[in-house]
Amino acid sequence: MSKIINSPIGIFDSGIGGTSIWKEIHSLLPNDDTIYLADSINAPYGQKSKEEIIYLSKKNTEFLLNKNAKIIVVACNTATTNAIKYLRETYKVPFIGIEPAIKPASLQTQSKIIGILATKGTLNSELFEKTSSLLDNNIKIIEQVGEGLVDLIENGQINTPEMTILLKKYLTPMLDAKADCIVLGCTHYPYLIEAINKITNHTVNLIDSGEAVARQTKKVLELNSLMHTQTKKTASHLFYINKSKTVLENILKDTKANIKVEELSF
Ligand code: DGL
Repeated sequence: MSKIINSPIGIFDSGIGGTSIWKEIHSLLPNDDTIYLADSINAPYGQKSKEEIIYLSKKNTEFLLNKNAKIIVVACNTATTNAIKYLRETYKVPFIGIEPAIKPASLQTQSKIIGILATKGTLNSELFEKTSSLLDNNIKIIEQVGEGLVDLIENGQINTPEMTILLKKYLTPMLDAKADCIVLGCTHYPYLIEAINKITNHTVNLIDSGEAVARQTKKVLELNSLMHTQTKKTASHLFYINKSKTVLENILKDTKANIKVEELSF
């Protein structure tokens, strides 16, 4: 049993964006080992079919299970909204998913208008449709596919004129409609907070699900008696990526943790 308890938390994303979730998990559970898988060669998932997203999510899950993961965090809204049902039905390990935080946004908005920036795969999913149908009728949601944003982030082009042009194009209709909350419905987007705040002049609330996912991970570990028991050793964090590791290393460079980043093909 203690072997399982002290096994790592497995996390995957279509690329490097899920590190925004890894950061929240590491901050809440600093003594847990983690294994992160960035399937960057197949990013973006957002334009792929549900079948392709399920196939890739299955492959990522099996990679992490082979590395002994005790729980799997699907740190990708697109993979969660399209594949988590299949994953939960297929594997015994507990899964934590991430969905756009439209419910918390609906509770915070004063103008009753919220914007949501997410991938096509997330916005078109049945799960997203179901979650948004549960909101109060008086809340208006402005949906926007963030086409091209993930590609720029994966290429390390966060603070570039191309990014500003795309963001202005996507945010202007939300701002014109008086949205006061914008949901960042993709785990890559927290890396755009600074760029978005420059455009909105800090006039809107940016809401993401990172902290909630970390809290849910802790809760599920506790419920399944999977909280680690190690106290002495420093936790280790292995990051695997099937493309060049430069951008991933750069995004993790300020993190004070025992990190190892490896390139490998899978
Ligand atoms: N991080 C993924 C998400 O949360 C990015 C999707 C993509 O690869 O298009 O949706």
